[in-house]
This record gives sequence, structure tokens and C-alpha cells, in this order.
Amino acid sequence: MGFNIAVDGPAGAGKSTIAKLVAKKMNLIYVDTGAMYRAMAVYFIKQGVDIDDVEAVAEACTGADITIKYENGMQMVYLNDENVTAYLRTEEVGNAASVTSGVAQVRARLLELQRTLAKTSDCIMDGRDIGTCILPNADVKIYLTASSAVRAKRRFDELVAKGEECDLATIQADIEERDYRDMNREVAPLKQAEDAILVDSSYMTIEEVVKRIVEIAEERK
Ligand code: DC
Repeated sequence: MGFNIAVDGPAGAGKSTIAKLVAKKMNLIYVDTGAMYRAMAVYFIKQGVDIDDVEAVAEACTGADITIKYENGMQMVYLNDENVTAYLRTEEVGNAASVTSGVAQVRARLLELQRTLAKTSDCIMDGRDIGTCILPNADVKIYLTASSAVRAKRRFDELVAKGEECDLATIQADIEERDYRDMNREVAPLKQAEDAILVDSSYMTIEEVVKRIVEIAEERK
């Protein structure tokens, strides 16, 4: 078993930014499980599967083979041997991933891949159910969150910086809808594990959050 840090939390809490930096500081592999659900979503979109039809999603997911490779320390996600990493971070794919990740068969297809990565490497893995379900014995569990208003403002600033037109209220409503779906689904809902440490980044800088998590992790190493 590798040394494992589990980071869970809602969309836009900064999990991937923080986890990448902690990985660098502690010489760990960063495993982004959201990207695996996003790759599944790309498959459903490509195949024209109705994502609200649970049975159709459950049946179609058997045709999606997701694998992970590391290139220059960056996680690359392959869908049926095609590198789909560049297509994962759109709102359409994120929303489709939020919907289809509620289907038990989709989760079952990704569970072994995630556990194998944790077993074979020292890693920091982020997602929604890592501390509660995927790695119940992780060395460190962090629940990283921030208020929906703060998360929406961060996303808004990111999009504005990219020159994209957007509306703050719509972004906040989308985030709250995604939180609701992620927290209220029947299979592996997002929740804080009993033994996870809560880090609320609403009024913390990225550096402060990284420092806090590294301190917690170093104590348990
Ligand atoms: O973290 P993210 O936004 O890339 O994740 C996309 C969606 O995938 C998210 O809305 C919920 C789902 N997800 C999940 O159900 N379990 C995980 N471990 C990671 C992501």
C-alpha cells in the first residue's frame, strides 16, 4: 500500500489546484478521479447516450475503457486508447459527469482503477467519495470546501480571465445544483468522512491551504 492522501469536497473548492501543489511538495502522484468520470461523460456524449436515462448509461458504460498514464508528471486520461485529456474541462462535460456519476455501474467501472493506483503509488487522490468509499484506510483524509458564493466568484474570475462571457448568479446556481446532485445521490454521495479533517478555504490563500495540508500529512508520514 502506498502513502495515500484522500481529498474530497464540492465542485470548485480548489481540490485539483491544491492537490497538484501538495503532490509536488511531497513527491506524490496526483490522481484526479473527476477526470475519469469526465472521460466517461465524453464517451456518453460521443455515443449520443441520453444521460438522464439510467439504464442506457448503465448499459453503455461497459463499452468505455478508461486508463491513466503519466506524462511529465501530468495525468493523461485515455478513453478506449484515445487521449481525451484535452476535452474534459468544459461545463458540458462537467455537468454530464455530475449526472452520470450517480449511476452505480459507472462508479463500479472506475473503482478498481482508483484503488490500484493508490495501492501501487504514493498518491494524493481527489474526488467525492475517496475518504468514504474508495480509500477508507487512507493515511490522511481532507474535506476541502468553501462557500458556494466564494466558489462561484473564483470560477467567474477564471472565466473572465480567459475572456469568456459569463454571469456570476448563473455560475453560483450551477454550482449549487451540482452540489445538490453530488451530495444527494444514492451511490457514494459526497460527504465528509468521520475521520476527515475539514479545511474551509473560503478565506484562505492557496499557499495557506497547501501549507495546512502538508503539515497534517507530514505528521502522519
Ligand atoms: O471534480 P470534477 O468537477 O472534475 O468532477 C466531475 C464530476 O464527477 C462531479 O460533479 C462528480 C463526479 N465525481 C464523482 O462522483 N466521484 C469522484 N470521485 C469524482 C468526481
